[in-house]
Amino acid sequence: MKIEQDYSLYEHNTFHLDVKTRWFMEYESEEELLRILHDEYFQESLSLHIGSGSNLLFIGDFNGVILHSAIRGITIKEETEDSVTLRVGAAEIWDDVVAYAVNKGWGGIENLSLIPGETGAAAIQNIGAYGMEIQDVIESVEAYNQLSFEKRTFSKAECGYSYRSSIFKNEHSDPYIITYINIRLAKQPSFVLYYGNLHESLAAYDEVNLVNIREAICAIRLSKLPDANEFGNAGSFFMNPVISKQHFDALSEKFGEMPHYPVSEAEVKIPAGWLIEQCGFKGKTHGHVGVYEKQALVIVNLGGATGDEIALVAESIRQAVYDKFKIELTPEVKYIG
Ligand code: EPU
Repeated sequence: MKIEQDYSLYEHNTFHLDVKTRWFMEYESEEELLRILHDEYFQESLSLHIGSGSNLLFIGDFNGVILHSAIRGITIKEETEDSVTLRVGAAEIWDDVVAYAVNKGWGGIENLSLIPGETGAAAIQNIGAYGMEIQDVIESVEAYNQLSFEKRTFSKAECGYSYRSSIFKNEHSDPYIITYINIRLAKQPSFVLYYGNLHESLAAYDEVNLVNIREAICAIRLSKLPDANEFGNAGSFFMNPVISKQHFDALSEKFGEMPHYPVSEAEVKIPAGWLIEQCGFKGKTHGHVGVYEKQALVIVNLGGATGDEIALVAESIRQAVYDKFKIELTPEVKYIG
């Protein structure tokens, strides 16, 4: 177990904000986690469990305990003729899991290549990209209740998955800490190629297979999204809003053709990046904060930004989009403090 006091979170948030936590505790097993949970000081402290901090915005220092899992490992839990179920430790880097599955020839997560973050956090947020979400492969999630110390295995249905959300994200539900997830992958995968220009990108390869899909997705992501080591960022800052068909029709009349994806008969999803670009923010800088020039949905730390400065830029984006389109953007990034 690792326990540090007044510990810098610079390497633990991909915005690379220079903030500190009063305590940092990292456990390597479920037994170590239980020891922390039973500790009286821990129970009385403000606490926050993080993954690799790829979706967090620290507004200031954290006056409590930051918990971090170091539970790793990928093991085969079950194998049939058609599928394999992997049990993956919450601290495994998600992209390493994708690379492992792709190299084995097991499909179902290849479109989720290069998404930053750790596996436990991926399951909490229901990460998604290029027409796939992690919930598509989740079989179950193993977690500890922070208050009763009990272990519970949640079936996929019990996880309550929806777009970038699950019951684990709901702060009002019992606070669960994920230790392992179980994902089921296909030995004869059916590829998901409809999103954006993925199909076109694959035309450059002699065949469509898992390795090539992963390579094409990585290339698309690298061309659109900034490297957090160069410019701190948390991927998409806002979620893509869902609006009524009626609202969409009224906006289309006013603004002409708008990119959109049908959600249901009555609702459509609009790319927030497009809305932000229409408000003139794309590529603009505000002090130490920038709106990425290739993807307006990504806010970047140009160096030395504070959480407050980033939050202010986010607020002016939210306000401008609301004023122009009467659409309320909701952050995908979680504000801390
Ligand atoms: N667009 C613009 N201007 C921009 C950016 C986007 O007009 O600056 C429009 C274009 O019409 C483009 C469309 O938005 O075709 C969609 O853009 P993109 O394919 O980049 O996807 P996105 O909707 O902006 C979502 C996810 C990403 C994920 C991509 C690919 C959300 C909030 N974001 O972005 O996830 O990688 O799709 O599937 O759902 C993340 O969650 O951190 C993330 C990066």
